[in-house]
Amino acid sequence: MDIAAINLNKKYMPANGVEIEAVHRIDFSIAGGETVAIVGPSGAGKSTLLHLVGLMDRPTSGKLLFDGDDTGKLTDAERAGLRRSKIGFLFQLHYLLSEFTVEENLLIPVWHERAKKRDEARALLKRLGLEHRRGHLPVELSGGEQQRAALARALLGQPEILLCDEPTGNLDRETGANVEELIFSECAQRKVTLIIVTHNPELAARAHRIIEVRDGTIVKEQKQ
Ligand SMILES: Nc1ncnc2c1ncn2[C@@H]1O[C@H](COP(=O)(O)OP(=O)(O)O)[C@@H](O)[C@H]1O
Ligand SMILES: [Mg+2]
Repeated sequence: MDIAAINLNKKYMPANGVEIEAVHRIDFSIAGGETVAIVGPSGAGKSTLLHLVGLMDRPTSGKLLFDGDDTGKLTDAERAGLRRSKIGFLFQLHYLLSEFTVEENLLIPVWHERAKKRDEARALLKRLGLEHRRGHLPVELSGGEQQRAALARALLGQPEILLCDEPTGNLDRETGANVEELIFSECAQRKVTLIIVTHNPELAARAHRIIEVRDGTIVKEQKQ
């Protein structure tokens, strides 16, 4: 899916009453299947931007287009539907549900069609090296395995866009590199548009494009 941001702005009004412009005049256009790394210091607005692209929040002003259509014109229910059917998320924390097994965690978002999805879930777990973990609870998994399970859950919905917010931030270097490898290879294979926020220069270097954000705005764009 193509994604375009036109003069995107997001302001927050914290409890102290001093307005924060977390995202300020951001323009970009990302083609379907492209991979983009977003880099920048803490507080730059990276997560806010990802929330806007993921339709988890609405911009204060400006437009976000999916394949040319203005997502701002959609109702909250339509946006939720789009989010469920087209967008996958991976965060720094895995957000697996602790009382369910790995396989159940994958199937929960697609529960109404779980019988149909079970084989696919198992094949995906196998590809991500988690076949032996499918009956385990999240707490019984290593950090890398937990993130791979969260990646599997995101991919099972067959998203057209995968949004990753510092997905390897809690992992050691080698484990993180393994998870990154899987994120990039799965997205390439499925032609999924990938937007990944990272502090890791090696990871950013794998993307087609690097967008550097500071104080809510794009300060540098680099194609590679
Ligand atoms: N829900 C919120 N309410 C008020 N301020 C927020 C909220 N979320 C983020 N911010 C502020 O917006 C700015 C950008 O935050 P964020 O998008 O989380 O940056 P990053 O992900 O680059 O660290 C920061 O100044 C942060 O404190
Ligand atoms: Mg952040």
